[in-house]
Amino acid sequence: MQTAIRKDMILNVDVVDLLNQQIMLEQKASSKYLAMASWCDQKELRNSASYFYNQAEEERTHMMKIFKFINDNGGSALSPTVSEITHEFESLRAIFEASLNAEIEVTQSIHHIFKTARQVNDFTSEIFLQWFVTEQAEEEEKVRDILDLIDLMGDMPLKMIDERIPKE
Ligand code: FEO
Repeated sequence: MQTAIRKDMILNVDVVDLLNQQIMLEQKASSKYLAMASWCDQKELRNSASYFYNQAEEERTHMMKIFKFINDNGGSALSPTVSEITHEFESLRAIFEASLNAEIEVTQSIHHIFKTARQVNDFTSEIFLQWFVTEQAEEEEKVRDILDLIDLMGDMPLKMIDERIPKE
C-alpha cells in the first residue's frame, strides 16, 4: 500500500504504511466485537453483550489513536473499510475464543510494527507504540481469564455463566 506523504513527515514511510494497516485491523476488531455483542444481546446474555459493546468502543478508540497519530505527524491516515465479519457463532465459549484469536492477531501486528520502527530508527513511532504493547498484554490476559472462568463453570446454564462475565 502506498501512503501519501507530506514533505515534513517525521515518521518513517514504511512504518506509516504498517500503521495504516493497523488502523484497518483495529477497525475490523471493533466490527467483530459488535457482531459478537449482537449475538449475545439476542440471547439475553447481558453481561457478555455489554462486554463486547465496550470492546467494540475500545477498538474504535485504538483505531482513532493511530489515525490521529499519523495525521498529527505529517502522514496521511487512510479511512478503513471492513468486510467479511461473521455473525455466526457456535457458543459463548467459541465467541471468546474468536476474541482471543483476534487479540493475538493484533498483538503480533503491533509487535511487528514496533520492531520495524526500532530497526529504522523511527523513535516517534516506537514510543507511541509502547502504549499498545502494554495494552495488548492486558487485553489478552483479560480474555484468557474469561475463558478459564467459562471452562471452570463447565456445564452450568449459560445465563449463570454470563452473570460472572465482567461487563468491560
Ligand atoms: Fe486494539 Fe484489542 O486491539
